Amino acid sequence: MKKKISKNPTRLIYHNPVSLITSNHNGTKNVFTVSWLCSVSNNPSMAMISVDKKRRSFPLIEQSGKYVINIPNIKMLKDVIYCGNVSAKEKDKFKERDLKFSVSENNGIILDDAIAYVECEVVNKCDIGDHVLFIGKIIDAYADEEVYSDGKWNLSNSNAKTLSFLGENGRYITIDELQ
Ligand SMILES: Cc1cc2nc3c(=O)[nH]c(=O)nc-3n(C[C@H](O)[C@H](O)[C@H](O)COP(=O)(O)O)c2cc1C
Repeated sequence: MKKKISKNPTRLIYHNPVSLITSNHNGTKNVFTVSWLCSVSNNPSMAMISVDKKRRSFPLIEQSGKYVINIPNIKMLKDVIYCGNVSAKEKDKFKERDLKFSVSENNGIILDDAIAYVECEVVNKCDIGDHVLFIGKIIDAYADEEVYSDGKWNLSNSNAKTLSFLGENGRYITIDELQ
């Protein structure tokens, strides 16, 4: 059961979890994997993603001015790999991976199997070369109660295992231990 996170929603992405970014522009929706994302301001709450200009998702985010950071756990690893290696220019990833979703009141695509999500409205962007940084104001955030509550990740719950990418093809680690 997902619960709204009104206080410090940036904490959901403090550890920069590999995420599935969804976009939706005039009925065209897409999903792709990012590892270059982070929280960048607490007041107002802001997040940032870095998107290659060649991605099919790029014009969808640019034109709609919105994106959703869907946070998967390790159970979605195959979806993460697929959505990070196949472009919507070739395939309908929702169909191919049977990704179930709902549409939020902000028109965001929310993946049912993600353990948390952060909806962002683009307020600024920065062209830094082959990638553009989309800085988004967080307009809504939800998390499964069992994995995140009272402003903390519950790392003893096996569903809380989010992913980090080591940059080499196919090498991921999970974050599941408190030091
Ligand atoms: C683990 C992982 C992390 C990735 N991180 C990013 C990223 O931060 N930014 C980006 O533009 N592409 C990133 N990619 C590549 C895109 O996900 C990939 O090119 C995808 O097929 C683009 O889909 P689209 O063309 O349908 O938008 C990543 C891929 C993987 C596997």
